[in-house]
Amino acid sequence: MENFDFCSPTHFVFGKDREREAGSYVKKYGGSRVLVHFGGQSAKKSGLLDRVTASLQQENLEYALLGGVKPNPRSGLVYEGIELCREKKIDFILAVGGGSVIDSAKAIAMGVEYDGDFWDFYSGKAKAAKAVPVGTVLTIAAAGSEGSGDSVITLEEGDYKRGASSDCIRPKFSILNPALTQTLPAYQTACGATDIMAHVFERYFTNTKDVEITDRLCEGILLTMLNEVPKVIANPDDYQARANIMWAGMVAHNNIVGVGREQDWNSHDLEHELSALYDVAHGAGLAVIMPAWMDYVSEHHDSMRMAQMAVRVFGCEMDFENPKATAKKGIQAFRRFLASIGMPVNFAELGAKKEDIPLLVEKHGVGDGKTGGFVALDRQAVTEIYELAAAAEI
Ligand code: NZQ
Ligand code: ZN
Repeated sequence: MENFDFCSPTHFVFGKDREREAGSYVKKYGGSRVLVHFGGQSAKKSGLLDRVTASLQQENLEYALLGGVKPNPRSGLVYEGIELCREKKIDFILAVGGGSVIDSAKAIAMGVEYDGDFWDFYSGKAKAAKAVPVGTVLTIAAAGSEGSGDSVITLEEGDYKRGASSDCIRPKFSILNPALTQTLPAYQTACGATDIMAHVFERYFTNTKDVEITDRLCEGILLTMLNEVPKVIANPDDYQARANIMWAGMVAHNNIVGVGREQDWNSHDLEHELSALYDVAHGAGLAVIMPAWMDYVSEHHDSMRMAQMAVRVFGCEMDFENPKATAKKGIQAFRRFLASIGMPVNFAELGAKKEDIPLLVEKHGVGDGKTGGFVALDRQAVTEIYELAAAAEI
């Protein structure tokens, strides 16, 4: 295991009706003038927004509303939010929604405290040291942004989807009421589940030795997902299964299962080009990319770790003579599971085009160099993975 620091100071407030306490948590963490940031329709339609604003009123907190965050959140609304916060002297941002709303809130929070263009944090030109405090009321188990120091935004000029990281954007508190996720369409539930599993796999595939504790934690989350997700696809109102999935989404991405080990993240980088270009759900893009990345990697690594995944997570029998064959069985089991919950298998099902592969590779920006991770990828490797994803079958 490698040396590490782990500081995850978010206060998690979990369970039924807890959104009614949003106002008291904003107050506890120093807010007095609040920007309530939300998405398209769902938070209004379900009455959640009214419950949250009522709890702010109860604590005599002033607030302004900024809705309209779209999935794969865009830079335009971030600029608008920064202006609004400065004008209203906002000192706390409350995100009510999913990863897109939370990421947009985090971008605004960094931008308000910065003299330059907020995009500098996403282009790698600058690192945020200060941000307006952010709290969240989560409505979908997926991105893990409720516990992470990350934010992903799409720059409208050129459709570049990029991430920024800083501990200053880790939420002060996150309210997780699993019942709020019961209104999700099955497709969004499945996209979220895929993202959660992908966050675990990005950490699981490592070259670091002797990481038994994080290996086993990763496997525990993956087994939980295999067990619980079909339950909520069959019965959206299964509160207990929703609760397990919601907490899995948090622990999958606040890095408790990723510490002390090299991580990969190549599948996420490959996927971000798909959701930027076609505006598809991040989880659906991952459903197509991640097994294709596994296929590629199983040909370019000794296969033992992937065979371990196949055995411990998907219950495949170990073929000691041919671990690659075991790895391949695990990859197909993963693909079949994703298809069984309604996820796309290949480019056509996702709505992506094979002819766009050169453009995707160009935008990915691997150039003539190599990415890091479990297996380093060059331009040829990136092209091959997109081709495998285009042609995949179950
Ligand atoms: O806008 P509304 O009407 O709320 O609809 C949303 C949206 O259409 C809907 N929804 C959310 N909660 C609902 C609901 N519908 C009914 N009932 C509810 N309770 O679901 C749709 C998707 O929402 P979104 O916020 O986009 O989902 P998700 O949480 O998957 O976030 C995806 C974004 O997070 C980024 C992704 O790239 C993508 O842009 N990620 C952020 C990460 C982070 N900050 O740490 C890490 C991830 O790897 C990921 O890259
Ligand atoms: Zn993700």
